[in-house]
Amino acid sequence: MQSKRGRLDRFLCSELQIPRKSVRELLLAGRVRVDGAIAKDLDLQIDEFARVQFDEQLLQSNTPSYLMLHKPVGVVSATQDAEHQTALDLLDAKQRNGLHIAGRLDLNSSGLLLLTNDSRWSQALMSPTNKVDKLYRVTLANPLTADYVTAFAQGMYFGFEDIMTQPAKLVIVSEHVAEVTLKEGKYHQIKRMFGRFRNPVLGLYRVSIGQIVLDDALTPGQSRALTPQEVACIALPARV
Ligand code: URA
Repeated sequence: MQSKRGRLDRFLCSELQIPRKSVRELLLAGRVRVDGAIAKDLDLQIDEFARVQFDEQLLQSNTPSYLMLHKPVGVVSATQDAEHQTALDLLDAKQRNGLHIAGRLDLNSSGLLLLTNDSRWSQALMSPTNKVDKLYRVTLANPLTADYVTAFAQGMYFGFEDIMTQPAKLVIVSEHVAEVTLKEGKYHQIKRMFGRFRNPVLGLYRVSIGQIVLDDALTPGQSRALTPQEVACIALPARV
């Protein structure tokens, strides 16, 4: 999801369907307010949460929203899908307005899914440079051995993307259950990594993303708002 930050004049041209020259006149006449203050700068940068008024007309006023959802197996991590129920379908209409998914899970994976309308926050969460840990509990068809720990820590070559995966931590919990921590999220990454051992993944559950842990009071399909502390644990880059 791209950041929604952009110039005020472009926003006004598109919202009011008027040319740039007319926007300049409106601004100079003091008829536009951003977050309560008269805005006169054509190139003022605004984001999706700026409150923009033209005379008495409210053009934009969004409140940031951050949710965790216990994604059940069989629900698709998308906002729309012709075939399957989507993560957004599990929220009520008022909650789902403008939300996007920050870090998808496969159809047959379950666990922590984050949703927000704050594109700057979701970008920071998923940015490869931030290396936010994602912890998964994985149930395998065949027994695990110490070789897995070494192979995951060394990284694996993914020919399709022509990359080496970043070192991943694998902890053997029991003969068929591992906990895996990834700092990235390549397509079907965990299934492909266990695929190297020809060991099918029977269950894949995301426990946490960074310090945000799936609330164990949430049953599959249930969601709750993130606390301010959970939101704040994702460090945002400085505005440019
Ligand atoms: N890796 C996978 O293979 N699937 C997921 O849903 C998440 C990580």
